[in-house]
Amino acid sequence: MQQNDWRKSVVYQIYPKSFNDTTGNGEGDLQGIIEKLAYLQYLGVDYIWLTPVYESPMNDNGYDISNYFKVNPQFGTIEDLKTLVAEAHKRNLKIMMDIVINHTSTEHEWFKQAYADKNSLYRDYYFFRRSADSEPPTNWESKFGGNAWKYDEKTDEYYLHLFDVTQADLNWDNPEVRRVLYDVINHWIDFGIDGFRFDVINLISKGEFKNSEKIGKEFYTDGPRVHDYLHEMNQHTFGDKDLMTVGEMSSTTIEHCIKYTAPERQELSSVFNFHHLKVDYVDGEKWSNAKLDFHKLKDILMEWQLGIYEGGGWNAIFWCNHDQPRVVTRFGDDTTEPLRKQSAKMLATVLHMLQGTPYIYQGEEIGMTDPGFDDISQYRDVESLNAYDKLKSSGYDEQEILTILGQKSRDNSRTPVQWTSGENAGFTSGEPWIDIPNNFDKINVEAAMEDEQSILQTYRHLIQLRHEHDIVTYGSIEPLFMDHKELFIYKRHHNGETWLVIANFSKEGVVIPESLDVDGEVIIQNGEVVNGVIDGFGSIVVAQ
Ligand code: GLC
Repeated sequence: MQQNDWRKSVVYQIYPKSFNDTTGNGEGDLQGIIEKLAYLQYLGVDYIWLTPVYESPMNDNGYDISNYFKVNPQFGTIEDLKTLVAEAHKRNLKIMMDIVINHTSTEHEWFKQAYADKNSLYRDYYFFRRSADSEPPTNWESKFGGNAWKYDEKTDEYYLHLFDVTQADLNWDNPEVRRVLYDVINHWIDFGIDGFRFDVINLISKGEFKNSEKIGKEFYTDGPRVHDYLHEMNQHTFGDKDLMTVGEMSSTTIEHCIKYTAPERQELSSVFNFHHLKVDYVDGEKWSNAKLDFHKLKDILMEWQLGIYEGGGWNAIFWCNHDQPRVVTRFGDDTTEPLRKQSAKMLATVLHMLQGTPYIYQGEEIGMTDPGFDDISQYRDVESLNAYDKLKSSGYDEQEILTILGQKSRDNSRTPVQWTSGENAGFTSGEPWIDIPNNFDKINVEAAMEDEQSILQTYRHLIQLRHEHDIVTYGSIEPLFMDHKELFIYKRHHNGETWLVIANFSKEGVVIPESLDVDGEVIIQNGEVVNGVIDGFGSIVVAQ
């Protein structure tokens, strides 16, 4: 058994603004995280991924960094961060920082100087381009809507922003930019952190600036020099250290992800991809309403499981994060209490038995739901507000837009963690920065800790299984009955051992295929299996 292998870890993602507020200003903070470390230890996770806590104007909630070395005062001080790392370490919890180096805030000193003076050395830190006609240099679309180039009248040039207009893309082709970014990473390594999550890291190498037939993705996704840059970054920073890294990969491919993560290439430890979450889109369009395409979900997950495993790479596996709606509302059923509980446990089991490193997003472990906002004034996210405007101007009516946002908005997962049934769900004594779903009286951590049958207990059990059984980490995967309309079935194999996983994605009981041998020792179970029928949203893992 490989004792200290990071591959055996489970990561818990914290979105600090919505985690726990100790000052009463309605926004979470670092002291709030420190207060809850005992809870995370109880849950049993190994790493905590902190979404950005650096100085930032917060136009994109911290993904717009204005100073890589400072802590945003709204979260606390650098001393608080030191205490957090030390206190986490005392409890055997490791800390991963989120590093956003595809772009900086336009309030970053580098950008300010670049923007103010065309001859500044910082001008080439970004992509400033002139255009031959009155159109922007290319027709690429920003991921948050609109053209990806912002015009500056003063110099008659545009700068590139693949995200918000206040998030200017850094020019990685400039060696000086790479050098200063490696300094940033080394600073945090010296600070004592244990890993990094690299934001949209497969977008750092821009190809040619040409017009696109679509929205431009093909020019910068997994771009021409991305592997060289990641290898170089590895060699100049964490390569020879015991750190876990995960890269967020936008619209990537299996081939690239094998390259990003195959150990001998020395780029990253693991990768997130999002293909399995685009299964409730209409024709690839996020801002649409569609039901889950279950076959597509299975096909994509299994294609990635097999592809990455066979290619010698490493997946990060997840249902939820701060950019995705809550999975129990999305792929489960939160309309009644037994269904919510049952489906959340099933979704947890089917994911945690897959190959790769699992991530749990705050609140997922108690089955938090989408909030069901019914007024645009309840939304805070820049992407959602832009989408609202765009849909409005395309003629959608208010109700339709609210239904779409209700399904897809990133704010769905950004509501505060529901700790107790008390005031503001125990999150803050002040006015929360975003509304709290009104189901917190029943769905909260305190209640989940008291209930032996809670979703939380299932998560604890699944984490424990990963820690205790190598098959969960290292086993190969064998998809089964892929055409089945309701059941997700697969086996894991390791050193002569086999585990069978069956999960029912429908709310009705379903007959398990007769030809499947289900005999063996039950490892974990949710719902009953009686006379060959598995309960609605039931799941079972059997060692054979
Ligand atoms: C990533 C982050 C997201 C952010 C974007 C731009 O996708 O997860 O929250 O808006 O990058 O930094």
